[in-house]
Amino acid sequence: VSDADAHDLALFLHLLGVVTLMAGIAIAAVAHARARREESTEGVVVLLRLARTGVLLAAPAALVVIGAGAWLVSLDQLDWDTGWLRSAIGVFVLSLVLGAAGGRRPRQARELAERLRADGQPPNDALRALLDDRASLLANVASGVAMLVVLWLMVAKP
Ligand code: HEM
Repeated sequence: VSDADAHDLALFLHLLGVVTLMAGIAIAAVAHARARREESTEGVVVLLRLARTGVLLAAPAALVVIGAGAWLVSLDQLDWDTGWLRSAIGVFVLSLVLGAAGGRRPRQARELAERLRADGQPPNDALRALLDDRASLLANVASGVAMLVVLWLMVAKP
């Protein structure tokens, strides 16, 4: 394969990873937001499991983005010191860390909801508190904004 063909493939995989990553984040965000307004334990469990599915889609996609991104750097003979690239990688790592931090309460909420369902209990205050945790919401919003900043840096290469 020529370098041009390899570049097409690397960019395709990179963008497929980006699309899947964004889709996973969107699924997790919408499912979690909907779970907060859910009345039944069963509904909360179903929606938080859907949110988890979004995360399980996003995590391997992030690895594909990184792998294909590194391949592009090599094919483009880019210097890892290039300004936009360094900034993008830094903000990307920040976004992943914020996302991981913001996902802890939702995971605890899912585990609690599963226990409540097993015991036939309705949602309680502890579950509501985990679902409505403000610090987690802030971390997740900041993670999403950081991801958009990376998208801008990748496209504009300022
Ligand atoms: C370790 C992380 C990453 C590395 C090393 C990396 C590397 C690269 C490189 C070298 C290119 C230039 C491809 C070319 O035009 O020849 C590129 C393009 C692109 N990247 Fe990334 N990337 C990373 C993460 C991301 C993330 C997280 C996103 C989205 C949020 C993203 C979105 C894009 C987009 C949309 C393009 C196409 C822009 C264009 O060519 O005009 N990348 N990436």
